[in-house]
Amino acid sequence: MPKLGVNIDHIATLRQQRKIGYPSVIEAAKILESCGVDQITVHLREDRRHIQDEDVIQLKKILNIPLNLEMALNKEIINFALKLKPKEVCIVPERRQELTTEGGLDLEKNYKKIKSTISKLKQENIFVSLFIEPKEKSVRLAKELCADAVEIHTGKYSLCKVGAKKFYIELDKIKRVSKFVLKEGLTLNAGHGLDYNNVKYIAEINGMNTLNIGFSIISRAVFVGLKQAAEEMLNLCKG
Ligand code: PXP
Repeated sequence: MPKLGVNIDHIATLRQQRKIGYPSVIEAAKILESCGVDQITVHLREDRRHIQDEDVIQLKKILNIPLNLEMALNKEIINFALKLKPKEVCIVPERRQELTTEGGLDLEKNYKKIKSTISKLKQENIFVSLFIEPKEKSVRLAKELCADAVEIHTGKYSLCKVGAKKFYIELDKIKRVSKFVLKEGLTLNAGHGLDYNNVKYIAEINGMNTLNIGFSIISRAVFVGLKQAAEEMLNLCKG
């Protein structure tokens, strides 16, 4: 059974709508930790649209489970990570205009920068993962770059209707590449777009270490919690 890392960026997305301190990512992380989640994942984006530096600093302080920091190849954020020393860093591509991380890293184009970043992070005993498309070539390059792990981008898979022909094609790609990841001796993680309908097939892949899931969990939490939230307010209004 893989471990579950929960990405709490979307709690911060909601908080940043008002910037008055709630909902708190710290409170969210504590709830998740208490219900047995294995890891907390946050993405410190260049534009700071959701998670802020102080969130990451506080999470590192209060968490008893590992903190996985997703970040782009940005000098300032790399330095931040080197100083903070989270348990794990996942290097991701980032484009300002995107709504979410749209694809895996181009390891060939960014080879030198990734290599020196990995080397610096590993000197601080930070476990380094690379967010990649399910392609053997990317795995080979990740190995060459001395990454500890890869996280396979499941975005294309997640956009397919479960059971459709395209769904099985994408699933097969992920399964084949997963085998190759293990053969190369790298830790196998996956994530992006995984939800309550499609997660099972990815969780069943042999050797899957961690799944990082955010949007579907936070979205479901809204409806699972809406009844109680409304009832509490009704009681306050109506006495
Ligand atoms: N893994 C990585 C590397 C990501 O960039 C993201 C999105 O921030 C996730 C996992 C989680 O994706 P989702 O929010 O779609 O579950």
